[in-house]
Amino acid sequence: MCGIVGYTGAAPAIPILLDGLERLEYRGYDSAGVAVVDPRTGLQIEKCKGRLQFLRDRLEALPPLEGTVGLGHTRWATHGEPNDVNSHPHVSQNGRVAIVHNGIIENYAEIKDFLLQQGVRFRSDTDSEVVAQLLEYYFNDCSDVMDAVYAVLARLEGAYALGILCADMPDRLIAARKDAPLLLGYGEGENFIASDATAIISHTRQVAYMEDGEVAVLTRDGIQVFDEYRRPIEKQLHHIEWDVSAAEKGGYAHFMFKEIMEQPEALRQTISPRLRDGQVVFDELRLDDGFLRRMKRIYLVACGSSYHVGMLGKYNLERFLRLPVEVCLASEFRYSDPLVDEDTLVIVISQSGETLDTMAALREARSRGGYILSIVNVVGSSIARESDDVLYTWAGPEIAVATTKAYSTQLALLTMLGLYMGQRLGRTSPEEYAAITAELALLPEKMEQVIASTDVYQYLASLYFNRECVFFIGRNLDYALGLEGSLKLKEISYIHSESYAAGELKHGTISLIEDGTLVVSLATYGPLLDKAISNIVEVKARGAEVVALTTDSNRERLEKIATHILTVPDTHPVLQPNLGVVPLQLFAYYIALHRGCDIDKPKNLAKSVTVE
Ligand code: AGP
Repeated sequence: MCGIVGYTGAAPAIPILLDGLERLEYRGYDSAGVAVVDPRTGLQIEKCKGRLQFLRDRLEALPPLEGTVGLGHTRWATHGEPNDVNSHPHVSQNGRVAIVHNGIIENYAEIKDFLLQQGVRFRSDTDSEVVAQLLEYYFNDCSDVMDAVYAVLARLEGAYALGILCADMPDRLIAARKDAPLLLGYGEGENFIASDATAIISHTRQVAYMEDGEVAVLTRDGIQVFDEYRRPIEKQLHHIEWDVSAAEKGGYAHFMFKEIMEQPEALRQTISPRLRDGQVVFDELRLDDGFLRRMKRIYLVACGSSYHVGMLGKYNLERFLRLPVEVCLASEFRYSDPLVDEDTLVIVISQSGETLDTMAALREARSRGGYILSIVNVVGSSIARESDDVLYTWAGPEIAVATTKAYSTQLALLTMLGLYMGQRLGRTSPEEYAAITAELALLPEKMEQVIASTDVYQYLASLYFNRECVFFIGRNLDYALGLEGSLKLKEISYIHSESYAAGELKHGTISLIEDGTLVVSLATYGPLLDKAISNIVEVKARGAEVVALTTDSNRERLEKIATHILTVPDTHPVLQPNLGVVPLQLFAYYIALHRGCDIDKPKNLAKSVTVE
């Protein structure tokens, strides 16, 4: 989704803004723009549709834009097609203010009507332009820009992270936030705003996360922050621990591949501090035994791949806790009148911690009295801050739109949480607990074996990259795993793909199987191996070519019936998807590579989905 970066300091703003925008590219965008305040000539704007490189080329062809205060923006179109005019920054009619915006102004039509009646002329089709025009409208009537800003915010409905520049105030920029991420970066003689820390990490590691309703005024000498009633507030500063190299490709062709390869280490970081002497230990958890004992139901709420983690979690948590666990898509949950009360645990899963649907579901659950425990990768993100409890996945920054290491760490952490609760409630057998924790400790090492060679995935991709449709089938955990394999394939290679519970085939889907249909059969879940084999036989009898994924110990049985075979090391059945997902990621990666797709930034997708 849209990315914002803002700078105020002593250095020329444009190179800093372009560098920041480049680091925000991963969020997904269709156009980009910058604005600076030139003390002599006022606001200078340059923006265009397409890749950031087009904007760079355009800027290089022009006389340099002077200014040490500025804003940059990458746009992911919601209102108005992607084109030069609809790109941000938007400037007001008389050029007094320029704004960048992430989010959706829901009542923009009503504000636009009002302004049109006042004679204001609009240039774009966006919801965002109303902010610039309304701001100038109020600013013309009062001498204080902050009066104007607060008057505007009082009229806006919807979600926004806003960066504001005023021609009359060439030394400062203003920021405001409601339901869209925005952070403040504290440097030496320079200060920043950004949608996330990757944009500014090469300049400062000291950040503060803006809360809803807050407004910040930044100059090169400092940052003042005010609450929604315009009272000054002190922000708590956070130090970003990870290094700038974590958000760079470091010699890899794609972030996605780098992140696949980083998975063993990400798992190590996530698991080892929480596994001591064979016991799962969560020092950071506040969830008490009193709540656990009265807990009657668990909801797992998430979107996309995080939802797929929830699908796997349902099987495992019900196994460990013998309690009803429901897994819900966040976008459905919030409108489903969910059965949440004070005895309900709501586990919210999100890599970014900023997904709007997930955030809205969290708020819905909280308003009904549920206890919110989130599993999040981005420290200080909105979901983390609004939860009763947070468990962080220590995956490091994930840049590729298609999630890999965040998924793997979410899955491991959710399993650990299930074991932890199961043990505290005395509902997980000590033998099972000991067997799984022993295997958890070995998971990073076993994953290293999976990624040690990629030849087989490259070979399979060379055979199947031009297919129009791929089926994934599996049972139980393998079914949930197939959902993720299928999503990986379709989101980066644009091949249509579906994942089916293998037992359902005979109830309809099997009619689609014909000579040469590619079926990826997941047969890693030992307890149901015989059933998986029967399903392979069924589809093969109808002409399917079958790529089977199983464990090393079952290779021989599958070799006899599958067209091609992939294996992963054996582990405890409940952890098997943690290893099984890696071949599916690599299969999707190499297919997308063969098809020449833009792997890290697939079309129409955004890393952090901050609109509904
Ligand atoms: C998967 O590869 C996608 N990036 C997407 O499905 C993602 O998992 C979903 O948008 C949820 O994002 P979150 O985990 O940041 O909330």
